[in-house]
Amino acid sequence: MPEMLRREEEREFTFTDQQFRYLAGLAFDRTGIVLAEHKKDMVYSRLVRRLRALKLNDFTDYCDLVRADNGEVGNLVNALTTNLTHFFREKHHFDHLRDAVLAPLAAQPPQPRKLRIWSAGCSSGMEPYSIAMTVKGALRDLTKWDARILATDIDTNMLATGAEGSYPAEQYEKIPETYRGDVMQDTKGDIHMSDILKEMITFKPLNLLEAWPMQGLFDAVFCRNVVIYFDKPTQAGLFARIANLLKPQGWLYIGHSENLFKVSDRFELLGRTIYRKVR
Ligand SMILES: C[S@@+](CC[C@H](N)C(=O)[O-])C[C@H]1O[C@@H](n2cnc3c(N)ncnc32)[C@H](O)[C@@H]1O
Repeated sequence: MPEMLRREEEREFTFTDQQFRYLAGLAFDRTGIVLAEHKKDMVYSRLVRRLRALKLNDFTDYCDLVRADNGEVGNLVNALTTNLTHFFREKHHFDHLRDAVLAPLAAQPPQPRKLRIWSAGCSSGMEPYSIAMTVKGALRDLTKWDARILATDIDTNMLATGAEGSYPAEQYEKIPETYRGDVMQDTKGDIHMSDILKEMITFKPLNLLEAWPMQGLFDAVFCRNVVIYFDKPTQAGLFARIANLLKPQGWLYIGHSENLFKVSDRFELLGRTIYRKVR
């Protein structure tokens, strides 16, 4: 029996192609995330938990619920986003931030002592906390600085974890030794971010496809491993808007499998997935 058919038969709930296309289409309209046919199994396994939690009979009921909205669209989005992240992921970005961005700023005469960094698609917060540790280490006396990190995501569950600032023990190893003084370990080994780090970060829900309320310009933007799920026109629109929100010569960090080729001509590539705004 072909693999696809066997999987269909093993499923607890029938999931038709039409239902898949409806839900994938809705996710695309709301988030920009492209869910092609080969993602059907993934979509099933993520949404089946919603069916069980809601005690629904089948995907027909689930599609009806989503159509009527009732707040379920937000849960659908939370279920379908991919939130993989860890502390100091792609560590070379944080080394660059420390050496090429923060060190020259710290060496400047005392005005203006303002720093703004945006973690766009921050998932559960390990990216903005990694930025905060790097900033605190590089600027040393934070009381002399107005240093703030904006951390946004569409997934409200992830933002709640970020604001809580507690992570499982296995994450400890990912944090470079020099920054481990910024985290507390409890008796189980789980780690908790210090208040100083938490105070530097503002976690906010933000859909990158919708209007952005931010007004000031950023020194640097981390938008990593987010656009990999978007099509090229969506990426082009997004990076044009990010360029508008960066200071002249501001820095942009993107994910290891992403690039701006034929997407944006407003940045110059200056390192491995490290860009600088040029226009
Ligand atoms: C794979 S995680 C990347 C996390 C982190 N930037 C990193 O590289 O470790 C991608 C994040 O992008 C978020 N995301 C996807 N589409 C989004 C959208 N339209 N607006 C805002 N966030 C979005 C997801 O919720 C998810 O948390």
